[in-house]
Amino acid sequence: MKIDKVELIYFSPTRTTKNTLMAIAEGLGAGRVEHVDLTPAGTDAGELKEIGGELVIIGTPVYSGRVPLSAAKRLQRLKTRGGAAVVVVVYGNRAYEDALLELKNIVAEAGFTPVAAAAFVGEHSFAGETLPIANGRPDAEDLRKAKMFGKAVREKMEHKGTHTEPRSLEVPGNFPYKERAKPSRVTPVTRKGACTACGKCVEFCPVAAITLQNDSVVSDGNMCILCCACVKDCPEGARVVEDATARERMEKLSVNCRARKEPEIYLL
Ligand SMILES: Cc1cc2nc3c(=O)[nH]c(=O)nc-3n(C[C@H](O)[C@H](O)[C@H](O)COP(=O)(O)O)c2cc1C
Repeated sequence: MKIDKVELIYFSPTRTTKNTLMAIAEGLGAGRVEHVDLTPAGTDAGELKEIGGELVIIGTPVYSGRVPLSAAKRLQRLKTRGGAAVVVVVYGNRAYEDALLELKNIVAEAGFTPVAAAAFVGEHSFAGETLPIANGRPDAEDLRKAKMFGKAVREKMEHKGTHTEPRSLEVPGNFPYKERAKPSRVTPVTRKGACTACGKCVEFCPVAAITLQNDSVVSDGNMCILCCACVKDCPEGARVVEDATARERMEKLSVNCRARKEPEIYLL
């Protein structure tokens, strides 16, 4: 059985989740790959197209051991036709805790049948050259494993007709989920001399926390989710996290999360 079409549905401010999903889709060898990108700020309101049918791959990053709230809310807005779903979280080499279970439950509540799940590792949103945390991941080895995972899902679907599999997919995690981290109100700041007011940070911010006012970048700490898309995507390297507590947290992560973690997969 050739899979005709797979839809990739993701929230991925720094694109490690998106890249992982694309590699899984490659391994699946579907005829067509469509993207439903829930990252842009506009996707938290307005009409979303109906998705689902044959197979979807749904992915989010892990934020403090959970599915990011912005992602959970956007996924809950989707109109779905149901069908089989592959559920994927991508985390920054610390831990994914309850995120995979939470995402699996969100996906099931949306009407899909989770048939496979995985936790992959991506460069930590807070990482940089001076504070490396899983830098460059997903790397070639991760992407190879992602493709193999896609192939394994295809083989399962070919041999078992997993849509009607009576067993339910088991993944690690606890319910009730761990409490969400309190909003930190911390936001990256713009180094004045370096900023050219190009507006890329405004464009890439998934929660519309950044505005350009008289050629000055203004960030709203109450809205910022610290995804660091603006830091990683600024062509001038002008966005930085300066907050002392946040820097301390990043330094600790950089020291404590050095040991390489490998992708984990769960199949029915
Ligand atoms: C606010 C925040 C909290 C995070 N919490 C965790 C965590 O609990 N465990 C972990 O390993 N990585 C954590 N990360 C790192 C991201 O899960 C990781 O960098 C992921 O690859 C980002 O996905 P994206 O590139 O699709 O945005 C966190 C990142 C942010 C911004």
